[in-house]
Formats: sequence, C-alpha cells, structure tokens
Amino acid sequence: MSAELWNSAVRVLDTNWAGDHMVPSRRLYPHQWSWDAAFIAIGLAYVNPTRAWRDLRSLFEAQWPDGRVPHIVFDPATAEADYFPGPAFWDVPAYGNRPARGSTGIVQPPMHAIAAWEVYRHAAAHGAACAQEARTELEWLYPRLVAQQRYLTTGRNLGRAGLASIVHPWESGLDNSPAWDEAMANVPADLALLSRYRRRDLDVSDAAHRPTDLDYSRYVGLVVSYRAEGYSDAGLLDRHAFAVECPAFNSILASAELALAQIAGELGLSAEAAGHRDRAGQITAAIIRRLWNERTGTFHARDVHTGKLTPANCVSGLLPLMLPDLPADLVRAVMDEMRSERFGLPVPSYDRTAPDFDTMRYWRGPVWINVNWLIRRGLLMHGFRDEAEDLRTAMVRLVHRNGHFEYFHPTSGEGLGAPTFSWTAALSLDLLADRSVPAYAKAG
Ligand code: SER
Repeated sequence: MSAELWNSAVRVLDTNWAGDHMVPSRRLYPHQWSWDAAFIAIGLAYVNPTRAWRDLRSLFEAQWPDGRVPHIVFDPATAEADYFPGPAFWDVPAYGNRPARGSTGIVQPPMHAIAAWEVYRHAAAHGAACAQEARTELEWLYPRLVAQQRYLTTGRNLGRAGLASIVHPWESGLDNSPAWDEAMANVPADLALLSRYRRRDLDVSDAAHRPTDLDYSRYVGLVVSYRAEGYSDAGLLDRHAFAVECPAFNSILASAELALAQIAGELGLSAEAAGHRDRAGQITAAIIRRLWNERTGTFHARDVHTGKLTPANCVSGLLPLMLPDLPADLVRAVMDEMRSERFGLPVPSYDRTAPDFDTMRYWRGPVWINVNWLIRRGLLMHGFRDEAEDLRTAMVRLVHRNGHFEYFHPTSGEGLGAPTFSWTAALSLDLLADRSVPAYAKAG
C-alpha cells in the first residue's frame, strides 16, 4: 500500500508543478495559494526539496512591503476567466519592486515558517548540495518570515489584544466554516453584485461541494470593501463589516514564532530566537484569554465587532492543541471534545451532531487532510502517541482508498472537491515517512 500511495502522490505533485510554483489543482485552483505552498513544501522535502524552496521563494517574491504575504499569487499565464475572482477583480495597488505577477490583497494562515523549518531539517538527507541550498534558502526566507509575522501581529491586531484578526473568511483557509456564520450575517449579501460575474468554481466542481451563492456574494462584497482603501488596515474596523479572531489562525501564528525561534537559533541569532519564544508565549496567553470558552470546553472564534464568541463547534476550536504551552487542563478539555461524538478521528471540519452538519460542503462537515495533519502534530506535542498513530493510519487509509482528493465525506470517505489535490498528496508523503514532531522548547 505505501509504495502505491507514495508513487501516486509523487505523480500528483509532478502534474501540478507549474515551472516555478505548485498549483493546488490544475482546474479548480490554477494559481499559487499561500498556505497550500507551505503544506506542499513539507511533502516535497522528501522527493524534491529544490521545488519546495522554489515554491516558497515564488510566494515570498510577491510579499508586500508591509509584510503581508498574499493568499493567492496569480500566474500571468492563466487567463482571467479561468479563476474568479481573478487579478483584475482584486486590482491590488502597485508596490515596491513587486514582480509583474499580480496577487490578492488578503492573507492566509502563516504556515510557512513551520514548513521552512521542516524542509530545512530534512535537507541533509539529500546530500551536501541540498544542505547548502537549504541554508541559503533559509537565510533568504528568515527576514521575510519575520516581516510576515510583524504584519500579522501589528497591522492585524485589530482587537488590540495581541491576536491577529482575519478580515475575510478566505484568510482563514476554512472559507465557509460555520465559525463565521454569525459574523457573516452582518455582512451585506449583494447578490446583484455577484450576478455580474461568473463563478468559475461551479464550472469545474460540484455545486453541492462548494460554498453557496449567498456565501460568494458576501465574499465578493468583502473584497470590494477592503479594496476601496487599497487594502489598508488603518481604521479598518470602522469601515469593514468582518473582523474575527480565529483560534486556528492564531495557533498557527504562535507556532510560526516557535519555528522562527528554531530557525533563528540555527542561524546564530540567539537574541532573536528568545524574542520569538516570548511572542509565542504572548500569543498563546491571548488565545486562552480571548478564545477559550469554559462552558463548552473548547476554543471559539471571536467577532471583534461584537466581542462575542461564535457558538459553533468547529475544527478550528481544536487546533490550539498544537501549542506546546497549552495548560494541562485545557489540553484535557480539548482532547475530551475531540474524542466526543461531535468529532472523533479523523476530525471532520464541523460538529457531526449539529443540525446543519453538511457531509459534502467544503468546510461545513468534510474531513480535510491538512487540519488533521495539524491535529496529529498537536497529539504528538502533548504525548498522545497512540492516538497520533491511529490518526496517521486513518489518514493514509483514507487517501489510499479514495484518492488524493481535496476533502472527504466524513462517514463514507468518498473523495470530494478537486480530485488531484497537491496538499493531500504532499502530506501523504509526510505521513508515510512517519516522523514525529520534535518537542519545541517551552515558550516564555
Ligand atoms: N478557497 C477559495 C476558493 O475556493 C479561495 O481561497 O477559490
């Protein structure tokens, strides 16, 4: 089984390589996506580390001068009509010496420091030339990764409490998660605006697997709102309807600081390493202070406009398990929630018992490999080795039986969404290689 799965994963990554970047899938996502590039690099580290570094470099070449790393870097060779909303719709302002490739003006979870460290620590296995390349690429990336963190922890500290806010559901990567339902209800749904465009995703994917038109009308409206002031964050809360602190995004933000501490240490920057560890501790404390709900025993997204925690129980509420400094009682509570009838391993994207649990529709029920990979990392971090191994086996079986799909039906395992999806293939390689995550030094 493993050789077959390994070979099919390598084939997916070969098919989806576009010269200097990887596309998530050829038809549905024909550009470069930000957090996809990070998950993809983690798998490419085993088979082609040069491509892993090239993909990360392509992404960070499109970094904005304020430090933001765009959630999509558009491929100029792909026609505007092949993806909606494309570069003309985003109409980002010219900046610095940005290469001709356009981008969006929003971000995605900052997985890249974690990925860079993973690729780096495996490079030596490929020989001296790869180790040298890894050193050069890590040195190039480090200041850019630091700038990305600075943007998110300052420009996006909209709640003034030490957490980054997302200002569009696409920034979470969990687009139509029920975690945003309450906050999105306050975003005007302009179906007339949407009717002027064509949803390209519905030409190449099953509509029952995708966000609804109502969702899309709000997604497009939020882009128009952010675009109006050139994607500036100054005074954004006063003129933009959606600002949310997400537990998954912020757990990745804190974990990125820990990865940066490792990278800084490796580059001989010990004072900077200590600063990264401090910031990881501060973000962890803010996640607990702002997003923990004693009553439900899990983490919830906070609407910065209303100060309310979302009532929905979503997979994002379990991801603070990746934080090494999560106190033991909170680890126990998250584990109880994960083992409950609402989730179970592999975790679905939403509470299985919720009346609106939807087995098909994107982030409203299906199982995704990337979040389960992060959950496994958390399980290993806190010493749940048996469950981590059960989860690894379950993910490998799921992909082997059903293919390298974008996501999976949470009971039948049927593949959903795009059929040859890069991060599913890349993370399958990592799961087959079966390494455990090293324990990070405690923050603070
Ligand atoms: N995930 C979005 C899409 O479906 C954009 O990031 O196209």
